[in-house]
Amino acid sequence: MNKVYIETYGCQMNVADTEVIFSILGKEGYQRTEKMEEADVVMANTCSVRDNAEQRIRGRIEVFNQARRGRPGVLVGILGCMAERLKEELLATGKVDIVAGPDAYRNLPAMLSAAASGTPQINVQLSREETYADIEPVRLDKAGVSAFISIMRGCNNVCSYCVVPYTRGAERSRDAHSIVREACDVFRRGYREVTLLGQNVDSYRWNDISFARLLAMVADIDPLLRVRFATSNPYDLTDEVLETMAARENICKHIHLPFQSGSDRILEKMRRRNTREGYLERVAKIRSLMPECGITTDVIAGFCSETEEDHQDTLSLMEEVGFDWAFMFQYSERPGTLAARKYPDDVPPEVKTRRLNEIIELQNRRSLDRYRAMIGRQLKVLVEGPSKRGGQLCGRSSDNKMCVFPDGGQKPGEYVDVLVEDCTSATLITKII
Ligand code: SAH
Ligand code: SF4
Ligand code: F3S
Repeated sequence: MNKVYIETYGCQMNVADTEVIFSILGKEGYQRTEKMEEADVVMANTCSVRDNAEQRIRGRIEVFNQARRGRPGVLVGILGCMAERLKEELLATGKVDIVAGPDAYRNLPAMLSAAASGTPQINVQLSREETYADIEPVRLDKAGVSAFISIMRGCNNVCSYCVVPYTRGAERSRDAHSIVREACDVFRRGYREVTLLGQNVDSYRWNDISFARLLAMVADIDPLLRVRFATSNPYDLTDEVLETMAARENICKHIHLPFQSGSDRILEKMRRRNTREGYLERVAKIRSLMPECGITTDVIAGFCSETEEDHQDTLSLMEEVGFDWAFMFQYSERPGTLAARKYPDDVPPEVKTRRLNEIIELQNRRSLDRYRAMIGRQLKVLVEGPSKRGGQLCGRSSDNKMCVFPDGGQKPGEYVDVLVEDCTSATLITKII
């Protein structure tokens, strides 16, 4: 009973957690496999952020159960946010042997042994301290170029639509020295990029170390190590962070800054702590300090009570900012959240879809504008590996745009200077100079 297969859904945090899980299991003799057919333990690290994310996982639970029909004894596990949200309900289906929430991964080896002797196991205890700081994650990125480093867990905001505070618990920051050690270690092993992860990185604080200070500490490891981070929140993205970014070439000039809605009335109902004007002020500050900075965002269409006018406010904000890229969603009511308890989910599905389509259409146009404006520019790209286009390599620019260029034998982890010659709305077509 020692081969483990894990599918990972949801955000980058979950990818980082799966790396921690493989490390914990590896120490107890479990081996990682990428083939579900040969696994003794089949698990999904799950996401609850929208209903369709959960539906997809329900489908996977069926597939996992078909897989074990021919091979009794195979254990099925649900980890992560959906485990935390649904708890016993998952065990009650009779299709799952292990249910482990995001703070319970140290117990997985014990849970697996107990489940193997026939008793389904559940641990959904949330913690105020757990940061897995001492665990050296098993890196899943095959190219060996870019590593996720989780710097905090949980979230103390209570955006009314969001399930994350319930599934991930209270916010806690990880020991800054353990973060720097992990970044040094991956750099020594040849990685050239780290992404510091948290639901709200700007509220990072460990002893007297702020997020700006942490960024500087990681960036100072080596000029060849690129530093990225996500996610920033407009209400607490400080000037100090922006100044730290501007002062260091190896901190990538990219900020993922979700705005969610362009309407103050909706922002207030969402319990976001910033206004439209506050958001635009942050964008102006970013651009005044770093004119070349890429800005990406998240937006929700059709939140409770959203009118046509609110929707127009969202469109006009997107028009005004000109995001490089956006993740765009229809509002999905999450049981137990403040919005679910307080406000009816009253925008009809067809209206949500239509508004989302308008948002997508506008963003595709603005992305294309932003990418076209790059034509003729020279960029430094970190090579990641072969591109989907044959005979080409790909990598990202500092502002997080995917660049492709003809394969000249460059290796993953090398930096190349390129000239942008053409683009689509998601890729820059470049040549090496
Ligand atoms: N911590 C990050 C976001 C984490 S969730 C932040 O605050 O920016 C990622 C994105 O999912 C959110 O930014 C939001 O746009 C979207 N999202 C969260 N809850 C949602 C819901 N109930 N319905 C639709 N989209 C949602
Ligand atoms: Fe959710 Fe808001 Fe926390 Fe982001 S900041 S995880 S949207 S509650
Ligand atoms: Fe999903 Fe949990 Fe991340 S709900 S978005 S996997 S924090």
